Amino acid sequence: MAHGRLTLRRARHDDLADLVKLEAACWPTPLAAKHDQLSARIATFHRGQLVAQIGEQLVGYSSAQRIHAELITNDPLQYNTVTDNDRFTTTHANDGEIYQLVGVSTAPEFRGRRIARQLIDLQIACAWKLDGVRRVMGFTRPAARHLTPELSLESYVAIQLTARGSDKTLAFHLNAGARIVSCHDNFRPSDQQSLGGGVLIEYSR
Ligand SMILES: CC(C)(COP(=O)(O)OP(=O)(O)OC[C@H]1O[C@@H](n2cnc3c(N)ncnc32)[C@H](O)[C@@H]1OP(=O)(O)O)[C@@H](O)C(=O)NCCC(=O)NCCS
Repeated sequence: MAHGRLTLRRARHDDLADLVKLEAACWPTPLAAKHDQLSARIATFHRGQLVAQIGEQLVGYSSAQRIHAELITNDPLQYNTVTDNDRFTTTHANDGEIYQLVGVSTAPEFRGRRIARQLIDLQIACAWKLDGVRRVMGFTRPAARHLTPELSLESYVAIQLTARGSDKTLAFHLNAGARIVSCHDNFRPSDQQSLGGGVLIEYSR
């Protein structure tokens, strides 16, 4: 395992081979971003692609884009539409008023060290420094939902706001002060752990 100081920095094109491996290690296969998608993100919005590095090893990655509110105003919302199939090429707008947190992941062997938290905190801090950004939002995963498939997405999320909540991926954002904006069935059908559901959250300034 890598040793050394944790560094957070923007992703570069020469990270791509390592980023592809990191994505494959972190996500269920259908959800992992591939080389062309990661490359397109860096080309489109370099400052929103952040990596965490220890020694020579990439141990975390967070992606973001800027969008206009119209993109997420009307249901049904779908991950692929909101992210241009994970590429951001047609969805990102340099003057978008919403800074959208798209994903965060930490290599399994480095989880629980607050690496993802530091990446998201840095995204948020950078977002508020950008001219024109009015909101910081993201669709997150109700990743333990498959354990209670009988619950509607709304009921499942309501439970997460009580002491009975046990979804660690939702807790990652809620415990850090994000609020839930809306729930979206069939947001990402390939996310089987979440039964396809997505939860729009917002961090206030
Ligand atoms: C969710 C994920 C990014 C967390 O990464 P991490 O670096 O371990 O997270 P952190 O150490 O910064 O955790 C911060 C908080 O998140 C919560 N948390 C999130 N996932 C957790 C997990 N699997 N186990 C324990 N706590 C978790 C905890 O409340 C923790 O707070 P604490 O340190 O006060 O206990 C990581 O599990 C992951 O890569 N999952 C797969 C990809 C994914 O689902 N991404 C999130 C949706 S975009």
